[in-house]
Amino acid sequence: MIVANSKRELLEWRRSLDSDARLGFVPTMGALHEGHRSLLRAARKSGVTVAASVFVNPTQFGPNEDLDQYPRTREADEAALREEGVDFVWFADAAEVYPTGFATEVRVPLLAAGLCGRSRPTHFAGVATVVLKLLNLFRPSQLFMGRKDFQQLVLIRRLVLDLDLELDVVGCDIVRDPDGLALSSRNVKLSEAGRVAALALNRGLLAARELFKAGERDAVKLVLEASRLAMADPRASLEYIELVDSVHLKALESVERGGVLAIAARVDGVRLIDNIALGEID
Ligand code: PAF
Repeated sequence: MIVANSKRELLEWRRSLDSDARLGFVPTMGALHEGHRSLLRAARKSGVTVAASVFVNPTQFGPNEDLDQYPRTREADEAALREEGVDFVWFADAAEVYPTGFATEVRVPLLAAGLCGRSRPTHFAGVATVVLKLLNLFRPSQLFMGRKDFQQLVLIRRLVLDLDLELDVVGCDIVRDPDGLALSSRNVKLSEAGRVAALALNRGLLAARELFKAGERDAVKLVLEASRLAMADPRASLEYIELVDSVHLKALESVERGGVLAIAARVDGVRLIDNIALGEID
């Protein structure tokens, strides 16, 4: 695995590849877990050269968010990337990604305003800006992202489509611990009791899916079923539960073909998100 610590090394490596080389790219903020590994494995499996980036992107954190406390585990990340057979990784530095005078912002307002965007109004502009920069630098043919960050995935798909970027966005399934908790780099901050409370989120989503399978299509009833269980533990303070379509993120009144039930809550001061597909989604 080639490890680059500068943009120059990344650009030199990229230029050294054949012009028809197929590159699979996995952008990360480090603190790699099985969820990230599943993206790397999906990239590896698709038979392309596999590249990753590790960068805790400051512009996607709001003023009172956990940028300083975000786990940074470079040695373990490097080992995990090697284990997964990654060909190239760039450990990026904020001063190189956002040099003095940086003045551009990429926004996808229609998809950034709802769901997580309500409590994190600047988050998705930070994500869209850094992802577009990374795509310009790496020039991959495939981009691998997790479905756990569902709104992020939908928004990046839109950005790729709207800006005519020639690449496939591959959405990979949520990876969960055996107890059902969706993997997140922030889970390490949960206390034991907090972890139990966090499990209620997934339980709520699963209960709504059972109701859907039993024939319920009314969004209010499905959302109520999910909230009933998700809010059962007083440690979990709910931010939202919403049923939306998987392309425009519009609230659904009833699920005809399919939709995504998305949830965000705080447990022990840790912000957690999760979601589940009901029916068929794109
Ligand atoms: O999902 C993440 O880890 C980040 O939002 C991403 C896509 C690496 C951009 O910083």
